[in-house]
Amino acid sequence: MRITVIGCGYLGAVHAASMAELGHDVVGIDIDEAKIAMLASGRAPFYEPGLPELLERSLAGGRLRFTTDMSAARGNRIHFVAVGTPQKPRENAADLRFVDAAIDALVPWLEAGDLVVGKSTVPVGTARGIADRLAESETGASLAWNPEFLREGLAVKDTLHPDRLVYGVPDGDPAGARQLLDEVYAATLSEGTPLVVTDYETAELVKVSANAFLATKISFINAMAEVCEVVGADVTQLADAIGYDARIGRRFLNAGLGFGGGCLPKDIRAFMARAGELGADQALTFLREVDRINMRRRERAVDLVREVLDGSLLGRRIAVLGLAFKPDSDDVRDSPALNVAAMLSLQGAAVICHDPKAVPNSRKRFPELSYTESLDEAVADADVVLVLTEWGDYLEIDPEVLARKVANPIVVDGRNCLDAEAWRAAGWRYRALGRRRMD
Ligand code: UGA
Repeated sequence: MRITVIGCGYLGAVHAASMAELGHDVVGIDIDEAKIAMLASGRAPFYEPGLPELLERSLAGGRLRFTTDMSAARGNRIHFVAVGTPQKPRENAADLRFVDAAIDALVPWLEAGDLVVGKSTVPVGTARGIADRLAESETGASLAWNPEFLREGLAVKDTLHPDRLVYGVPDGDPAGARQLLDEVYAATLSEGTPLVVTDYETAELVKVSANAFLATKISFINAMAEVCEVVGADVTQLADAIGYDARIGRRFLNAGLGFGGGCLPKDIRAFMARAGELGADQALTFLREVDRINMRRRERAVDLVREVLDGSLLGRRIAVLGLAFKPDSDDVRDSPALNVAAMLSLQGAAVICHDPKAVPNSRKRFPELSYTESLDEAVADADVVLVLTEWGDYLEIDPEVLARKVANPIVVDGRNCLDAEAWRAAGWRYRALGRRRMD
């Protein structure tokens, strides 16, 4: 099928390349010329495992191209809208500027029978508004809402082999949106991927409620971590034990610095804001607490570092390992790790930061911090080593070798990801969030 993907950020670029991989003829459109130039030359504008290979294959096969020219949408049958919906400055609500601009720019090129497919994460009610606009445009195009659940770092796999597909279609589906989307996703559906066909509002809500649930699960275990810290219990063992109950499940119960990134934090805030507008704010007040618990973890990490340094951060040399909001990503949007590094620096510590991929993005956000691409340089003479993002590189560190490079063998494990026993056996004082002192 001939497909347009508007917006070539994390979501759109991966979606465009994945649709081409499924055999479709795809054009990716974005207003950012630098981004389009990179993608057109087969380079991903962000770090995402598997994406460069996918781009290269589809570009070489002639099934994928990128442009800033919206007229390239003409003659295509399906038009995915995958632009960003960031948090508004100084407000919780989502900013729909890019969605509105994308629809405005697309309308002149639409033809009867075309299907516009929303992928962006939007406040509930947005799709119906866009459907009305399309109806007014008299183009004969219609709308479906098809939320995306990809995780950064696993985006290619999640797009090609999702846990489920959701289509939001209007009553009676007069334009046959389901059939068109079934054709788009034929290869995925043939693997037995569950499909939920529903109305616009449910489709929009599935997306935000899934993220709200995941955020709640993380804040729940971090709340347990707070209690564990007070009584000297161990949150990792607690998570293992409750996670064996299949109704609870162990996934997304990793206590530590909490959630960050471009989705979970802003999505729960936008969800609360939207519920408020709809007069249903009481239903979601618990999400405020989810957000608060999450933000408290960062402060607790700073307190723990101060504690292991006997109460004073001033001039102490702190090696921060990990800046990305999670491993296998160079994304530092709302990153707990970068936030903690900045707080420590503001409080007078000499912080030196390392990350396998996220140093350039971190530098743009916090130019005043010190960065290095060398792990050895980061830890040299450190008074304390902080592991704030659980990159595989850090899990492979030999604690015995590292102990010889630092000033004090003290490690704070902000993600409960290190082998505590191995570090202690190598002579380290090991401290972690939500676990009793082991030194
Ligand atoms: C999240 C959702 O997982 C995706 O399903 C969704 O499609 C995406 O948002 C989106 O809305 O676009 P993502 O932001 O890529 O995906 O990252 P996650 O893997 O969900 O991790 C989010 C944060 O939670 C990270 O900072 C991670 O370190 C943290 N986390 C995750 C924990 O602190 N503990 C856990 O047990 C799991």
